[in-house]
Amino acid sequence: MVPAGGAFPAYREMPAALDGPARRVVVDRPALGRDRLLVSRPDTGACSARPAAVREEAGAVRTGFGPAVPAPALEAAMGAETEAWGRHAAARDPVRRGRPRAWGDQAVARGVQTGRATGRTGKGSDAVETVALLGTGIMGSGMARNLLRAGLGLRVWNRTREKAEPLAAEGAVVVDSPAEAVAGAGVVLTMLTDGAAVAQAMAAAAPGLRAGQVWAQMSTVGVAALEELAGFAREHGLVFVDAPVQGTRQPAEAGSLVVLASGPADPRLEPVFAAVGAKTLRAGEEAGAATRLKLTTVGYAITLTAAVGEALALAEGLEVDPGLFAQAVTGGPMDNPYLQAKMKAVLERDFSPSFTVHGAEKDTGLIAEAADRAGVAVDLARAAAARLHRAAAAGHAEQDMAAAYFAGFEKAP
Ligand SMILES: NC(=O)c1ccc[n+]([C@@H]2O[C@H](COP(=O)([O-])OP(=O)(O)OC[C@H]3O[C@@H](n4cnc5c(N)ncnc54)[C@H](OP(=O)(O)O)[C@@H]3O)[C@@H](O)[C@H]2O)c1
Repeated sequence: MVPAGGAFPAYREMPAALDGPARRVVVDRPALGRDRLLVSRPDTGACSARPAAVREEAGAVRTGFGPAVPAPALEAAMGAETEAWGRHAAARDPVRRGRPRAWGDQAVARGVQTGRATGRTGKGSDAVETVALLGTGIMGSGMARNLLRAGLGLRVWNRTREKAEPLAAEGAVVVDSPAEAVAGAGVVLTMLTDGAAVAQAMAAAAPGLRAGQVWAQMSTVGVAALEELAGFAREHGLVFVDAPVQGTRQPAEAGSLVVLASGPADPRLEPVFAAVGAKTLRAGEEAGAATRLKLTTVGYAITLTAAVGEALALAEGLEVDPGLFAQAVTGGPMDNPYLQAKMKAVLERDFSPSFTVHGAEKDTGLIAEAADRAGVAVDLARAAAARLHRAAAAGHAEQDMAAAYFAGFEKAP
């Protein structure tokens, strides 16, 4: 039961007719400093919180999903406050009906309300609700926090345990081994550097795995490694979902990634993807399709970043004020948010990483590998790879990929 004046001082249900298959509950959650949507699915009873741009648009309200709804219609639809949306969802779910506490009730009771999760390790109901996350680097940490905010029970493992430990204060259970993390979890997520790291972590997880668990592989691993990982999943009877993400540190922290998913559409992943992403883009039915899509988007981001760094280095070399370059492109047809973010990083010499030089160089290798298989020339990705390699060799490997800028100079400016 959601207490009046608790973490959710006001939440109201919109009729399903407005929503399509998922029911939506608009939540005013000032503690987070923005509106969130709670999505509850009548078919599974699963509920999740997700960020949503709920904004007025000329008398209409756009919720971030589907068409804008005229504001008066939304107000009318939101008339009756629901007392306990978890119980409400359970009442509609024949599988859960009769169970003492539905998924949603537990989420409200222990997670959504307090921002904390028990992360209990038993099987039974925990098999449905506990998420195991392997990897709490830049992306994994942000995703973990959003999983916790959504009220999901979360066990995390990271090779360097200290990096995962801050998550304990927010409700995650930090464990010492991948096997401990995955034992009894309904959902396993991997968010590690590359295919080799994922393969190692999952091999170490094997004693805790059981057939039927769903594994969403969210790291960028490339097509060859993806095939090997899918083979590992088959051997262990796991439901394998290829689910790399688009978006960097800030979207990971804001829960506004774009999840690129292919493979089975397993309902256990819906609250998970809803927690970490603004949207899930289905790339295809077979695992591998999402990874191929990811290579195209990350290739675009990396080459764009390399181009920004090169232009700024050239400006400096030609004794052009880089600020003039910024003025020339800002607001015109060549402008875009990525240009602004990476240009700012270079001009302010702030290379705190959203995506590291090392990570971007790794991805250029994956792009080249996939392109070679497909017979496509990727000159720009290869040129970006060379710049990233030189920047890494000059000591910038752990800085943001905007530091590829330094590759423009024999000696650092
Ligand atoms: N950052 C982005 O903008 C972005 C965006 C989309 C996708 N991605 C992808 O998301 C994945 C994670 O990226 P990130 O930026 O979060 O990287 P990161 O901050 O460097 O984190 C990498 C993670 O992998 C772990 N790791 C590396 N090698 C390992 C090994 N051999 N065994 C076990 N664990 C290992 C690291 O553990 P330690 O802490 O012990 O080093 C850390 O948890 C990558 O595949 C990346 O390409 C990144």
